[in-house]
Amino acid sequence: MAQVVLEHLTKVFAGPRGEGIRAVDCVSLAVEDKELLVLLGPSGCGKTTTLRLIAGLEEATTGTVSIDGRVVNGVAPENRDIAMVFQNHALYPHMTAFENMAFGLKLRKVPRAEIAARVGEAAEILGLAACLERKPAALSGGERQRVALGRAMVRRPRVFLFDEPLSNLDAALRQQMRAEIARLRRRLVATMIYVTHDQDEALTLGDRIAVMKQGVIQQVTDPMNLYRNPANLFVAGFVGSPPMNFFKGAVVSMRGGLFFQEQTPNGAAPLKPITLRLAESSAGTLQAYLGKQVILGIRPENIMRAAGAGEALLEQAVEAVVDVVQPMGSETHIHLAGGAHPFVARVPASDPVRAGQKLSLTFEMGSARFFDPETHRAIV
Ligand SMILES: Nc1ncnc2c1ncn2[C@@H]1O[C@H](COP(=O)(O)OP(=O)(O)O)[C@@H](O)[C@H]1O
Ligand SMILES: [Mg+2]
Repeated sequence: MAQVVLEHLTKVFAGPRGEGIRAVDCVSLAVEDKELLVLLGPSGCGKTTTLRLIAGLEEATTGTVSIDGRVVNGVAPENRDIAMVFQNHALYPHMTAFENMAFGLKLRKVPRAEIAARVGEAAEILGLAACLERKPAALSGGERQRVALGRAMVRRPRVFLFDEPLSNLDAALRQQMRAEIARLRRRLVATMIYVTHDQDEALTLGDRIAVMKQGVIQQVTDPMNLYRNPANLFVAGFVGSPPMNFFKGAVVSMRGGLFFQEQTPNGAAPLKPITLRLAESSAGTLQAYLGKQVILGIRPENIMRAAGAGEALLEQAVEAVVDVVQPMGSETHIHLAGGAHPFVARVPASDPVRAGQKLSLTFEMGSARFFDPETHRAIV
């Protein structure tokens, strides 16, 4: 059992001019036993500091860290039964893979036979059995990363903390290690908190994802819900690649229903504003915004090309001109200019499009999200 609970956890560092830097700002979060929770956010948002607070390497300014119901704020790192895997795995260059993994256990005076058994088991799980006698210089980047993982595993901690463990690896290796961590996950019975700034990594690995910005948790939910129902503009723009498109506008009443009508970013009416009928699923909630400003968010995959000119779905149609075409191999991203906002659509690679072409598009309004321009919170 290892449930990790953070309550109102805050860390304020002293800045160079004596000012306070709120690295972690009143974070409350419960990580369930055997859960893999991903902490996702841009560089500098407080991820590493949060992990260091949990590990006991940093002292909280206020708030508590509890493991299995016991507050551990005053407990030394070595007595917290937590192992941390860092971005720079920093293996000892003069020791073999075996010795690197065994080192911590040796320090703790674990009997030789027990050390050999634990390292052997970790090596087996990590596919390192053939590399145990090699020194780090003779290992590949992925193998070195696995040795660092093994070093944490042999301690058999109740909680694993991963601080961007894959960010130093090249793209292909990162992909492979991601799959390995997912596989490893099934064999290790432990609670894991995994920090990354990479939203793909977060979506593929996490049972749940906590999104952080400037020390504050923005949303905690499962990957699918995070993608479909972002709680605010920041999460909506941070998760998803290419990111969600945003359009500033207002809710207006016409033709016996509610419509979204685009405005320019400074609130004026553009020459040919994008005008879209609201889906039934959002019209009810947006009734309260009639005559007011909202931000429409729609993902690139929810913008379809109509079969031919003028054939876009009635009242969900947008005319636009192709600005840039980005072939991605399996699909194509097209950058478009229509009303007052540029936007991106994702189309099949087989779809022939070229820059300068005029396109008729359908916005799938059932998948659109709406945000309050003042609070930035999701409305529906
Ligand atoms: N020891 C420190 N002293 C002063 N400021 C720090 C210290 N450690 C981190 N910070 C600041 O706290 C904020 C969060 O840092 P960090 O937790 O490392 O972010 P992340 O891991 O998300 O990139 C940053 O603004 C960083 O500059
Ligand atoms: Mg960091």
